[in-house]
Amino acid sequence: MDETTRPYDLILRGGRLVDGTGAPARPADVALADGRIAAISSPERALETPAAQEIDVAGRVVAPGFIDVHTHDDRAVLSTPRMTPKVSQGVTTVIVGNCGISLSPLTLPGDPPPPLNLLGGREAFDFPTTADYVEAVAQARPSVNVAALIGHGSLRVGALDDISVKATTAQIDAMRDRLGAALDSGAIGFSTGLFYRPNAAADMDEVVALAELLAEKGGIYVTHMRDEHDGVLKSLEETFETGRRAKVPVVVSHHKCAGPRNWGRSRETLPVIEAASRHQAVGLDAYPYAAGSTVLDPDYVNEEIRILVTWSQAHPDLAGQDLAHIAESWNCTQREAAEGLLPAGAVYFQMDEADVRRILAFPLTMIGSDGLPHDAHPHPRLWGTFPRVIGHYGREIGLFTLEQAVHRMTGLPARCFGLEDRGVVREGAVADLVVFDPQTIIDRATYENPTEPAEGVELVIVNGKTAWRDGAPGEGRAGRFLARPQTG
Ligand code: ZN
Ligand code: CU
Repeated sequence: MDETTRPYDLILRGGRLVDGTGAPARPADVALADGRIAAISSPERALETPAAQEIDVAGRVVAPGFIDVHTHDDRAVLSTPRMTPKVSQGVTTVIVGNCGISLSPLTLPGDPPPPLNLLGGREAFDFPTTADYVEAVAQARPSVNVAALIGHGSLRVGALDDISVKATTAQIDAMRDRLGAALDSGAIGFSTGLFYRPNAAADMDEVVALAELLAEKGGIYVTHMRDEHDGVLKSLEETFETGRRAKVPVVVSHHKCAGPRNWGRSRETLPVIEAASRHQAVGLDAYPYAAGSTVLDPDYVNEEIRILVTWSQAHPDLAGQDLAHIAESWNCTQREAAEGLLPAGAVYFQMDEADVRRILAFPLTMIGSDGLPHDAHPHPRLWGTFPRVIGHYGREIGLFTLEQAVHRMTGLPARCFGLEDRGVVREGAVADLVVFDPQTIIDRATYENPTEPAEGVELVIVNGKTAWRDGAPGEGRAGRFLARPQTG
């Protein structure tokens, strides 16, 4: 059909287009048809063709939907497919399976060992193959797109009777078979959580033996490194060497310099990352908070930093309380209190605000929430990350321009993770879009009230369908599983 006569499904009229590439914002109307961006106006070309619907977005920014590169939404996309914590922020795609923890391919005879239990109990691990998981996502029809990494921790729990040792050759072969099948089913890469017990006994040889498959089949290696504390530089070296040996691109997850002794050391780490990026494909992600969150482990408790309990199976009513208070009322040490709460999760105030800002401002840094969707009293990053980067760190603090902020959550991750036709607004790209008010967009979730939705995100479109509008879910649950394009 001729372009001038073709009716569009929707025109977003009168907004400022921030296209995800980092290019300066410009006034433009954006027309959608059949789930794609059909046309973009320019000073020379107005969009006059009638559309089934027009929305006036004057004073608003139109941008690619945000890509949350670091999530643990593996089960959330199935159990809570509206995905309100994410769509309310403007997120249109989540990457699941980070930190070595993925829901597939794995079934469990007993309770999942921490940190796999961040995804749920034994019954949650019900996907012997990644093809089964892909099918479950299709059935659930989540509001966001889902791309999946396969976790080394999950592979090890499935293949080893004793996760505290290095895998044997036969066990490595078994894991390679499962990872290979998962990649053939469309997984976009492989993640490790070398810091965590199910993964820690794996040495570089074991990781390389698995990551090599990515070079063969395509895909990316993402790592929660062995050490983000005193040994952070050594872990960066390990990560880059793993990437070089396996000949694959690497992403450093939630980069941080943790523990008061290491505060300020992003001055050392960022130049090392920058130097590596000149010789090999390197990326990193970060969330915009000076506290992390994971399972509560008595070994992580040292009374140096504030720790906030996010959930406890032994004492569910204590979620949201400081460990120090619990220890006081139980008249014991914090470590003993942690033991009494298990299994449990926590927020750790382990970072330096200056490091957080330096890392966020670093040009290669992508944004990943690392939100934990099943926690009773979650870290506020689950509901606040993306509006906080734009509103707080961009507009209020001035760490970067609006265009750079948007680029870190759209065009940059789409390119890094190979998400074709997403992350940019251009004619022919998929219509994953967010419309927000650049003057008011801000996070509202706090450590005290962690599930307050963000403000200023007015419209979110996923694959051409409305996922969020004016503070409420839209009609469409149009997210898809984004399979890695198969090579060879
Ligand atoms: Zn992690
Ligand atoms: Cu994580």
